[in-house]
Amino acid sequence: MYLKQISLINFKNYDEVSFEFSKGISCFVGYNGIGKTNILDAVHYLSMCKSYLNPIDKQNIRFGERFFVIQGTWDLEEKEVDIYCGVKAGEKKIFKRNKTTYEKLADHIGQFPSVMISPYDRDLISEGSELRRKWVDGIISQYNHAYLDILMRYNKVLDQRNMLLKKFYENGFFERESMEVWDEQLVHYGNQIHKERLAFLEDFIPTFQYYYTYIGKDSENVQVEYRSQLNEETFEKLLELNQRKDAFATHTTSGIHKDDFVFTINELPIKKFGSQGQQKSFVIALRLAQFDWLTKKLNQKPILLLDDIFDKLDNQRVTKLMHLVSDNVFGQVLVTDTDKNRVESIFNSIEADFQLFDLETIKVNETNG
Ligand SMILES: Nc1ncnc2c1ncn2[C@@H]1O[C@H](COP(=O)(O)OP(=O)(O)OP(=O)(O)O)[C@@H](O)[C@H]1O
Ligand SMILES: [Mg+2]
Repeated sequence: MYLKQISLINFKNYDEVSFEFSKGISCFVGYNGIGKTNILDAVHYLSMCKSYLNPIDKQNIRFGERFFVIQGTWDLEEKEVDIYCGVKAGEKKIFKRNKTTYEKLADHIGQFPSVMISPYDRDLISEGSELRRKWVDGIISQYNHAYLDILMRYNKVLDQRNMLLKKFYENGFFERESMEVWDEQLVHYGNQIHKERLAFLEDFIPTFQYYYTYIGKDSENVQVEYRSQLNEETFEKLLELNQRKDAFATHTTSGIHKDDFVFTINELPIKKFGSQGQQKSFVIALRLAQFDWLTKKLNQKPILLLDDIFDKLDNQRVTKLMHLVSDNVFGQVLVTDTDKNRVESIFNSIEADFQLFDLETIKVNETNG
């Protein structure tokens, strides 16, 4: 499976543009702000039904316009599949596969998988636990559609439970029976989510460590630690133990919504003790392992989107990484960089075939008519 062509109308800084891709590596080069990342983001839209960067669809419409369209053609074992994404201000986003509109966007997700590696991945390390939970949940739900549904149900029940806690607090009484209704459901959904997250990590961690060692250093020991209150105690018991605490806090203080995934290097949090290069290698290894996991589960290779990957990595790491992605393990790869010469010299030095799109000359051609 690979993306054969993509065309954009009024998407971010583009009025109208289209690109044809080969199966292997394609590179976009040009100065800061020319629109390299925007192209990867358009591919992300076709794959995940949303932007990687800006969750508000209408903000991705070119300034001053009323709609955008992204259209792409995927080659699916010699069969062509046409994917259409249309966003109009004030209207529902439309997604079509071969001209048929999807009823639910969730039906599309996982069909044409992608993995983006971007400078914003640093947020996975630096931000709070919610982002890491979203990341893990996002991966699992590409493969397991029921998971997303269970997660939504859990969150709904959690909201209801919290509302009840507030009501109890305001009214100055606590009614155990009405709480139990929500507790039972919370435990039911929470346990399933906990089980899935555990199973995912068990599979994921060895691959992640393999990739870190490959691009990083043998001597550095990296780990993703799954911290969940449910690792130590049953969810029923936790809710029971925290009843008073919850009543005073007026929200639910235990459960899988408190889970975190802690990233460490040599047993210390990488957030505080990792160098910039180590942090970058860490998130790249996370993404490559994500690629592997999805390949296995979805039975096809995601398209790999490498945004500004060469920045902050030393030459040795860059060369190793590019060797890896130009190997047969990875399928289609889209790369961006500001430095055309760097891209050319890296891929030439490892004798990899690649396609180069110099956005600066494409722009010049356009203005020349
Ligand atoms: N809705 C929009 N309408 C018009 N332009 C937009 C819109 N959203 C973003 N842009 C423009 O897109 C440009 C950024 O493009 P992009 O991030 O793809 O650049 P880049 O080539 O990746 O740059 P860098 O090398 O700095 O990463 C910015 O100039 C921004 O103003
Ligand atoms: Mg960019």
